[in-house]
Amino acid sequence: MNKVAIFTSGGDAPGMNACIRAAVRGAIYHGIEICGIYRGYDGMIEGDIEPMNSYSVSNIIQKGGTILKSARSKEFMTKEGRQKAYDQLKKKGIEGLIAVGGDGTFTGAKVFFEEFGLPTVGAPGTIDNDLFGTDYTIGFDTAVNTALDAIDKIRDTANSHNRLFFVEVMGRDSGYIAIRSGIGGGAELVMVPETATSITEVITTLQEGWNRQKTSSIVVVAEGDEEGNAMEIAEKVKSQIHMKDVKVSILGHIQRGGSPSAQDRILASRLGLGALEGLMSGQKNVMAGIINDKLVYTSFEESIGKTKALNQDLIRMVKILSV
Ligand code: F6P
Repeated sequence: MNKVAIFTSGGDAPGMNACIRAAVRGAIYHGIEICGIYRGYDGMIEGDIEPMNSYSVSNIIQKGGTILKSARSKEFMTKEGRQKAYDQLKKKGIEGLIAVGGDGTFTGAKVFFEEFGLPTVGAPGTIDNDLFGTDYTIGFDTAVNTALDAIDKIRDTANSHNRLFFVEVMGRDSGYIAIRSGIGGGAELVMVPETATSITEVITTLQEGWNRQKTSSIVVVAEGDEEGNAMEIAEKVKSQIHMKDVKVSILGHIQRGGSPSAQDRILASRLGLGALEGLMSGQKNVMAGIINDKLVYTSFEESIGKTKALNQDLIRMVKILSV
C-alpha cells in the first residue's frame, strides 16, 4: 500500500487530533503517503483531500475537536454520493482509508467497502463509548471528566440552596457517560437507558435520602433514558414530591470539547497507529480497538451491530453508595 487517507466523521471527540497525528506520523515512519480528507464523507464526495506531512500534525496532540473537521453526511447515504466519493479517492490514488468516528461513520464505511472494496480500518472516536470491540472509545474519558467537573460545581450550589438537581449528560442511546460521571460525582441516582428506573423508584430513593436528613440531591440522567429527558423527568418527579426547589442542568455539547485527557491521548495514539498498521498488514472493513490493553481488530459489522453491555456492578454500586 503506497497511499492512504484519513478522515474524521460524526460527532467530534477529544483525542481525534491525537489519532490523526499518530496515523500521519506512522505513515511517514513507514514511508507511505497520507492525505487528510476534510469534513468527513462530505469532503470525500467533494474531493476536499490534501496531502499531510509531519508538520501538518505538529502541536495538535493536546487540542480538542478535529483539525480535519467533521460532518454527518446525508449525501453519503445515497449510492450516487458514495460513487462520487469513490471517484474522488480513485483520482487521488488513495488505496486505503482510516475512518475515525462512531457507529454512523462505520455504518457508512461498511457499505462503502461492500460496494467498492476499498480497504478501510476504523478508529473508534466518540464520547458515547458505545462501540463493541474496544473497552473505551476516543473522547469518552475526557467527556466523563468534563461532566464530572460540572457535577462537582452543581453540587456546591445544590448544597448551598438545599436543592434537587437533575443533570442531563450525553451518550445518545448509551449510559456510559452517565454511570461514570454519576459514580465519580457521588450522585444519589443515575438513570441510564440500559436499566429501567421508574419515576416511583426515583421518588422512593430521593425520599429515603430526605428521611436521612439529606438536604440536597443530584440525579444524573443519560439523555437516552426511557423515562424521557431530564426536563421531563424533573416535571414528573416534581408533581409528586413536597420539595419544589427542583432544577435541571443540561450539560450538552460542553462534553464534546476541551483538551483530551492523558488517557484519551494515549488511547487515540495507539488506535491511530493501530488503524494505519492494520491497513498496511491487510486488515479491511474492521475497527481497531483496545481490549485488556491489547490492540484488536473487530469487523465493522460486529462493532456497530453488537451491544457493549454496561457493567451492572456499577449500577448496583450507585444505590449502595448513596445510603
Ligand atoms: O455521538 C456523540 C453525541 O455527542 C451524542 O452523545 C449526542 O446524542 C449527539 O452526538 C449529538 O449530536 P449533534 O452534535 O449532531 O447534535
